[in-house]
This record gives sequence, C-alpha cells and structure tokens, in this order.
Amino acid sequence: MRLWRWRSGAAVCALLLGGQVSRALELDLNDASSIKRAAKTAAEGMLAYYTGGVEGQVVSQMPGVLPGPYYWWEAGAMMGSLIEYHYYTGDTSFNSLVTEAMLFQTGPDANYMPPNQTQSLGNDDQCFWALSAMSAAETRFPNPGPEEPQWLALAQAVFNTQAHRWDMSSCGGGLKWQIFAFNLGYDYKNAISNGCFFNLAARLGAYTHNDTYLEWANRVWDWEHAVGLIGENYMVYDGTGDLENCTSLSHIQWTYNAGIHILGAAMMWRETTGSQQALWQTRLSALLESAKVFFTGDSPTMYEAACEPPGNCNVDQLSFKAYFSRWLGATAKIAPFTHDIILPLLQSSAQAAALSCTGGIQGTLCGMRWTAGTWDGTDGVGQQMCALEVIQTNLLDSVPARVSDGNGGISQGNPSAGGDTNDNFVQLRPITTADRAGAGILTAVAVILTVGGGGWLLS
Ligand SMILES: *[C@@H]1O[C@H](CO)[C@@H](O)[C@H](O)[C@H]1NC(C)=O
Ligand SMILES: *[C@@H]1O[C@H](CO)[C@@H](O)[C@H](O)[C@H]1NC(C)=O
Ligand SMILES: *[C@@H]1O[C@H](CO)[C@@H](O)[C@H](O)[C@H]1NC(C)=O
Repeated sequence: MRLWRWRSGAAVCALLLGGQVSRALELDLNDASSIKRAAKTAAEGMLAYYTGGVEGQVVSQMPGVLPGPYYWWEAGAMMGSLIEYHYYTGDTSFNSLVTEAMLFQTGPDANYMPPNQTQSLGNDDQCFWALSAMSAAETRFPNPGPEEPQWLALAQAVFNTQAHRWDMSSCGGGLKWQIFAFNLGYDYKNAISNGCFFNLAARLGAYTHNDTYLEWANRVWDWEHAVGLIGENYMVYDGTGDLENCTSLSHIQWTYNAGIHILGAAMMWRETTGSQQALWQTRLSALLESAKVFFTGDSPTMYEAACEPPGNCNVDQLSFKAYFSRWLGATAKIAPFTHDIILPLLQSSAQAAALSCTGGIQGTLCGMRWTAGTWDGTDGVGQQMCALEVIQTNLLDSVPARVSDGNGGISQGNPSAGGDTNDNFVQLRPITTADRAGAGILTAVAVILTVGGGGWLLS
C-alpha cells in the first residue's frame, strides 16, 4: 500500500512540477480534433494516478486497483471512462491497459467479486464494473480472447448475482446497499445500488432483447417509485432504511443517481413500443427536467449541488459528474427527443470544465469547481475523470450508435453466467485493520449523514 502511494505521489509530483511550458487545456467544441486532444490530455492526467500498468510512467502493480484513497469501484468506473474514450475518439492508446484491468478483476466466478475485495463489496461497487463491461459490449470495444470471459457475459453475471439478492424481507423489495450483513450500510436500500441494477437490466434488455431483463428493470423502477426513491417530480433521492421498512428517506440528491436512471429510462424507451414507450418518454423527460438542479449559472454548468458549494465532497463524490456526463451523452443519442436538451448542457459544462484545467506547472490539471473559471487548487482521479467525460461526450454527434444483438453487436453473452449465485462467504479473505479503517468508517459516516439527515439536505 505504501509503495503504491509513494509511486502515485511521484507520478502526480511529475505532473504538478515536471512540465516546462505553462498552458491551459485548449478546447474548441467546433473542432473534433481539438475535443480529442483535450480528452486525451485529461485521460493522461487521470492515469498519472493509476499504478496498475501505465507503460513508461510507473511500474505495473495490480491491474484494476487505484492506490488509496480511491476505492476499488472507482478503478472500475475509470476503466468505463476509458472504454467510452475509445468509443468517442477512436484512439486505441489505452485499450490494452483497460482490457488487462477489466479481466484481472473479474474474480474466480467472472462476476466482479474478486476475493481481495468481497469483504467490503457493495452492490453498487460490483455493479459499476458491470456497467463498464456493458459499455464495452455496446461500443464494440475489442473482445477479450476466446478463453476469457466476454463483456456481455460479465454484465450478465453481475445481473444474475444481483437479481438473486432482491430482498422481499422488508420494504416490499429492493436491493440492499451492501451484500454482506457485517458491513455497515447493510440496512440501507439506496438509489445507486437499485439504480445501477435498473440501468444494467434495461441495457441488457436492450442489448439482448430478452424480456426477462426488461421485466426486472420494470420491477426495480416500480419499487423505487413506490418507496419514494424516485420521488415527487421524478427527483431521485439517496436512500431509505429497511429497519423502518423504508418509511423515511434521505433526500440528498446526487448527479449520478439522476444520471443512472436517465440512461436506464432511455434504454427502456428504445426497447419498448406503443403505450409503454410513451410512458418511458414521460418518465425520461421528467427525470431530465428535475436533473436541471445540477446545473448552475447563465451558461449552465454542471455541479455537484449537495457538496460542491460547501466544498465537502468526499473522494467518491468528486467523480460523480463523470458518470452523469457519460449517461447524459449516451441518452442524447439513444433517445433523440432528448438531444437538444442535453447537448447544450454538455457543451457549456465542457467549456467550463476545460477552464478549470489550468493546474500544475503544465497547466492542464483539472479542478472540481467548473464554475470557478480557473483551477480551484484540487486535483485527483475524480477531477480528471469528470473533465474527460464531459469533454468527450461532445463528440456524440460524430460517433456511431451503440449496438445490440442483431444490430452490430459482437460480444458473446452467457445468460447463466455468474457462478454460484448464493453469495459465497468462503471466498472472503480476513478483514484487516486497514480495511476497517477504510471502507467501514467512511460508510458509517455516510450512513449517519444520510439517514440521520439534517438541514443541509436538498429537497
Ligand atoms: C489480490 O491480492 C494479492 C496480494 O496483495 C495480489 O497478489 C493479487 O494480485 C490480488 N488479486 C487481484 C485480483 O487484485
Ligand atoms: C413494509 O412495506 C411494504 C411495502 O410498502 C408493505 O407491503 C409491508 O406490509 C410493510 N411491512 C410492514 C411490517 O409494515
Ligand atoms: C433470458 O434471460 C434469462 C435471465 O438471465 C435467462 O434465464 C434466459 O435463459 C434468457 N433467455 C434466452 C432466450 O436467452
């Protein structure tokens, strides 16, 4: 652990101090090559923090793991940002790094439950890796070798393990945040775990045209709506406690909770017809309208409304705008009636994000606050990933549509993937003190803040 931190520190120091020429991140949205250059610079800045295999920069450690303070799930999300990077730019520079990490972390059952991580694994953590695999299938990211698990099958494996966890013992259904009872947060049913399962089910349904996935997507949506996670005006709230049978809610709103439901709804819209499609159109439009709470200023700029103004976003939260951008970009293409609403928001936000990328001696490190007009003095994987994704989605009009089975898809599925769907405690390695001090404490703080509630909640 120490070694990784030191190496990562060295890489970041090189970025902060190493360059000679002072410059900003140039971005001309009318010029595709300018967008691609800016995206590549942001991606390279992001990978300076990665110790898992950046050739030429750092010695390869464990593929698919970021050094602390970043959790395992964020490395999976980061691989997703690079899969999308390949889709938008056509640049294959990072593909082998991505494939190596995506396959290294699958675990023995090829379902993103590797023994090194299972002791602190939440449904959302596992699902974020599945969404990266899903992006790979949808964007024709090069397939792994025939002896390896395939992108679509990996996403199906995670779906199968999670469908098995659907919990009828309280609240009339829902997925718990955590998988294992010894983890704090086991009693919390939240929008990101359920939203991720919804998003995955909708996308598997749209990719494979198998109704089972679409039925699940409907089930999750209906449940979230019934307990109020999808609340008035289709605002998406953080979570609810199952010890109280989900009768009270934390009303915090996060960009990624809105985004994950927006893309799921867009996929449902694409895969349905008639009155069902009309229903998803209504839902998608309303979700988008409510998501305007995450844009501020005359030139609407994306911001993390719950933590950016007070400046207390945690490490996870610093990356949420990346996924919000990613899912808005995908939605604009999948559901054309959203295009003219979404694209201007991505344009103004990308322009503002680029202005925040003036950090370090090279003048291209990105900050958290895109409203600042310049670098805000913070740096990290989240800041780089957010800038990368909001910038690259501006290429959405120039890339081909996402594919599905029978419509350009080349990823091989396996509907029964996932191994033993009874969560297998034998796989767990002993919990170390460091693990407890990491995930457990942060989770406890999050649960107290969210369930305890307070005047600072958005509603
Ligand atoms: C799990 O941890 C061990 C010991 O640190 C390491 O050698 C191995 O590569 C790790 N596996 C994964 C999938 O990260
Ligand atoms: C818990 O909530 C569900 C769904 O709203 C309801 O069907 C069930 O009766 C409730 N159980 C109790 C014990 O109140
Ligand atoms: C559809 O998906 C379900 C759930 O994974 C699976 O059991 C079933 O075999 C699939 N059907 C087909 C035709 O692939």
